[in-house]
Amino acid sequence: MYESKVRVSIFGLGYVGLATAVCLASRGFPVIGVDIDLKKVSAINNGECYIYEPGIEELIKEVREKGLLKATSNPTESILNTDFTFITVSTPTNPNGSVDLTAVEYATKSIATSLKGKKGYHLVVVKSTVPPGTTEGLVKKILEEFSEKRVGIDLGLCANPEFLREGRAIEDTFKPDRIVIGECDKRAGDVLERFYKEFYGDDMPPLLRTNAVNAELIKYVNNAFLAMKVSFINMVADLCQKIDGADVDIVAKGIGLDKRIGSLFLKAGAGWGGSCLPKDLEALKNLYSKYGERAPLIDATIEVNDHRPNKLIELAERITGGLNKKRVAILGLSFKPDTDDMRNAVSIKIINTLINKGAIVTVFDPKAMDNARRIFGERVNYSKDVIDCIKGAECAILVTEWSEFAKLKPEDFIKYMKDPCIVDGRRVFDPKEFLKKTKFATIGLKIDGL
Ligand code: UDX
Repeated sequence: MYESKVRVSIFGLGYVGLATAVCLASRGFPVIGVDIDLKKVSAINNGECYIYEPGIEELIKEVREKGLLKATSNPTESILNTDFTFITVSTPTNPNGSVDLTAVEYATKSIATSLKGKKGYHLVVVKSTVPPGTTEGLVKKILEEFSEKRVGIDLGLCANPEFLREGRAIEDTFKPDRIVIGECDKRAGDVLERFYKEFYGDDMPPLLRTNAVNAELIKYVNNAFLAMKVSFINMVADLCQKIDGADVDIVAKGIGLDKRIGSLFLKAGAGWGGSCLPKDLEALKNLYSKYGERAPLIDATIEVNDHRPNKLIELAERITGGLNKKRVAILGLSFKPDTDDMRNAVSIKIINTLINKGAIVTVFDPKAMDNARRIFGERVNYSKDVIDCIKGAECAILVTEWSEFAKLKPEDFIKYMKDPCIVDGRRVFDPKEFLKKTKFATIGLKIDGL
């Protein structure tokens, strides 16, 4: 079966599914992507991309030309023509904070029904972020019931979470820090390990093989720890803001040099957002309460983050003397740079608060303008570039640290703004340089008079 390259079907062509599909195909593994959304299916089959992610569009074209990637909405066709199936459908949050597994159930049912008519061993890999117990419980049960086959004998089943970041999806897929295989049986783990060894060759990352429950937990705990690191340094930033001479960036650098702490995810700023961290923290919190356990660190991580937008608004109010009827320019809308994603972006809360306070808001983002239009409609003004955004403004708030914003000098703000009041929500600008020439405030740094 493994003489030629393994053929892979991927159910769910969202962010993770598409990135995984193109990366596997680019190393010669034939991939069939499956999605119920016909627009996604036809986009891929036309060699087009429907998400913004550096490098992905070029790869789609390349693998389409080589005939290594196609998409379909027909699950049976994809199952009969592949050896492995990755489940990469989304797992959103229910209103009560639990995880909505409808898409996982639906995908698993269609995989299982199609497997019924298939001969030979087939491996099913759950890549979606799912609560502990889902792979061994729900997925296994549905697979066995609808395929009339047995996991561990005719079928293999693993939980195999991914850790890729938006904006770095391709890089993270080719060079992950580690691979986690949560196997329901040894054979399935062996088969998946062999596959990854073939995919990565000499660059095989560290591998952890464990049971499915641990693999599922690792994903949630990983994201919770990352969010906790960011909230921790943001809490430190609030203290630095009050003490003469203190600077959170220097404090972060100092503690980051301790190998036990590490320097990454210690950048203080407007807070964390996106499609994963908020959702996964909520799910973990829900899990603790389901088991009757307290999770004070998770509660505090969320609480600190919930206050970040207000911290920026407070600085803007103090520096301008009040926001009512003021023209405020927002630089950056996506939840972080190099993506157009605005899901749970801090910018949304900041802009809504500004509007409530009577400010006239003008926005600019290098990639997220279409998403912003869908969210804010007529409630804000949209600029064609950053200079257009700050023109005539009485306050500029940098919310997302796109590299093009870092090039702006105090002179640009002085030249184009009506009143150069600048709030740097991500510690992008040099405070010394800006304080000399403009009215300036930033996170984690006490500024006289503010
Ligand atoms: C995250 C995880 O990193 C990834 O492993 C997982 O698979 C999906 O969730 P992503 O949502 O793409 O990835 O964003 P990430 O790069 O982790 O950033 C999350 C948020 O934290 C962003 O809003 C970012 O601006 C913020 N952040 C990050 C900080 O404010 N400071 C930091 O030092 C790091």
